Amino acid sequence: MAGEERSVKVKIDNVRRVFNTRNGEMIALNGVSLDIMENEFICVVGPSGCGKSTLLNIIAGLLEPTSGKVYCDGKEVTGTGTERGVVFQQYALFPWMTVKKNVMFGLNLKGIKGKEAEDIAMKYIKMVQLEDFVDHYPKELSGGMKQRVAIARAYAVNPSILLMDEPFGALDAQTRTQLQTELLETWEKERKTCFFITHDVDEAIILAQKVIIMSARPGRIKEIVDINIPYPRTQETKMTPEFLELKNHIWSQVYQEYLEVRK
Ligand SMILES: Nc1ncnc2c1ncn2[C@@H]1O[C@H](COP(=O)(O)OP(=O)(O)OP(=O)(O)O)[C@@H](O)[C@H]1O
Ligand SMILES: [Mg+2]
Repeated sequence: MAGEERSVKVKIDNVRRVFNTRNGEMIALNGVSLDIMENEFICVVGPSGCGKSTLLNIIAGLLEPTSGKVYCDGKEVTGTGTERGVVFQQYALFPWMTVKKNVMFGLNLKGIKGKEAEDIAMKYIKMVQLEDFVDHYPKELSGGMKQRVAIARAYAVNPSILLMDEPFGALDAQTRTQLQTELLETWEKERKTCFFITHDVDEAIILAQKVIIMSARPGRIKEIVDINIPYPRTQETKMTPEFLELKNHIWSQVYQEYLEVRK
């Protein structure tokens, strides 16, 4: 945002990741460097297998880089941390816990217990509009509702950055659109740094301030596209000429990489 002082939240410094597979060494990421600024909303797009999830997992501390380093708030990432909240495509909820208990889980891990944990959980359950379902179990919820619980749970522990790996990927188009709107509203209120992976170029443009296009394997950053469309953005924004122009550009860049994969 113009005029606002922003610091680097996450610094990705020349990250390379190699996997040892049956077919030998496979370079998933090579020479990836990126600064994620405080309060920034970044979306990452790129062909399947280009290393998006690998990169997110390295930032989350779930995976180590083969070389290179990641820093969060200036400290080297060496494992997971509550300042980095993760939401995956498959709602990783505990089936034996109610919605409220699922959201309280991370709070309890942080040492927040009892009424305090319950109040915080309720605040975020309301944020995702599930207050009528607090005592329901995951199996009693739709896919969209489960993903809302996962988002509430990630927010509740108050991370300073949210890492989301195709969080809406398994949802139908309508639910997806609705969750995009909700996530945008939340982001505009709290401005938490978001690093969001998606296959959906429309979704990337409607959400992000910057779209990172990754190249086919070995994954590198191909292009960083600034999305200078003012917020609040709505679904109507998708009809504007500036949106369509960005969509054309990003889509053709991703498509080129997709063709590389198929070669
Ligand atoms: N644990 C692992 N062991 C071996 N290879 C792996 C492992 N994890 C990922 N890979 C490989 O690394 C490459 C990048 O995988 P990654 O999951 O990061 O891709 P992606 O961009 O997230 O793909 P998608 O869009 O399909 O989710 C792929 O070729 C994948 O097979
Ligand atoms: Mg992935």
